[in-house]
Amino acid sequence: MAKGFTIELSDIGKSYSQASRTQCIFNQLNLSIAEGELLVLLGRSGSGKSTLLNLIAGIDLPDHGRVTIGSTKLALLSEKERTLFRRRHIGFVFQSYNLIPTLTVRENLLLPLQLNRIDSSLHDRKIRSLLRNVGLEEREKDFPDQLSGGQQQRVAIARALVHEPEIVLADEPTGNLDLDTGREVLDLLDQCVRAAGKTLIMATHSQEVMGRADRVLTIRDQRLSADGIRHRSEANDVVTAGAVSPPVYGGK
Ligand SMILES: Nc1ncnc2c1ncn2[C@@H]1O[C@H](COP(=O)(O)OP(=O)(O)OP(=O)(O)O)[C@@H](O)[C@H]1O
Ligand SMILES: [Mg+2]
Repeated sequence: MAKGFTIELSDIGKSYSQASRTQCIFNQLNLSIAEGELLVLLGRSGSGKSTLLNLIAGIDLPDHGRVTIGSTKLALLSEKERTLFRRRHIGFVFQSYNLIPTLTVRENLLLPLQLNRIDSSLHDRKIRSLLRNVGLEEREKDFPDQLSGGQQQRVAIARALVHEPEIVLADEPTGNLDLDTGREVLDLLDQCVRAAGKTLIMATHSQEVMGRADRVLTIRDQRLSADGIRHRSEANDVVTAGAVSPPVYGGK
């Protein structure tokens, strides 16, 4: 991807229909995210945080509007091309981990390296170093169901980082971790993602994450609002909240 790329969401509309009920998740949502930014997404359960991350990753498509990453318009790619694009450029830490249960921890981390055809002589070093960083180097031969929820979450984080993607999308990555482990994981994300100038978009309720963010946005009433939380850098605040409702500034 070209240096200085942005992630642009333009006029996004997204609804889900089930039986006779249609639920509108986003309406006229606009968002621009700069390369290297740490953007935190807040919002009540069911507000659409995971949906937004899925749209950015091209796992799901909007009903209207478009998602553009660098020069790539996701909607113009076939499903296979979107999978390849995601595999190459995006690391996704799923809220429910999505580890492959029949593969060991090591094999789960190996998969993105193999799929991206990364030189096999580097595999061991990359996997060991990340497992050490998430405190699981002793568990590489274990299967996911032999690990606790927090340990699986740490494997999921390592798997999202192992192929060094330009964009990391993390859905409540510290949700199942104790305070200290959560802090270590954030340090790891800082080190592997931010220090390397990569883009990190995180859904979270962690106060600690919010304190590290460049920008904190809340999903509310199908739109995004800039929060009243102080950001590390206010300068590149490029949010364009929903076209109708003004930004809501919480009193913090
Ligand atoms: N595939 C789907 N089919 C139907 N409805 C869906 C689907 N995915 C999400 N939804 C609905 O969209 C809404 C937003 O869901 P989403 O998972 O994005 O919320 P969230 O903000 O991530 O919530 P949480 O904090 O609980 O993880 C919810 O009401 C959910 O039921
Ligand atoms: Mg969610």
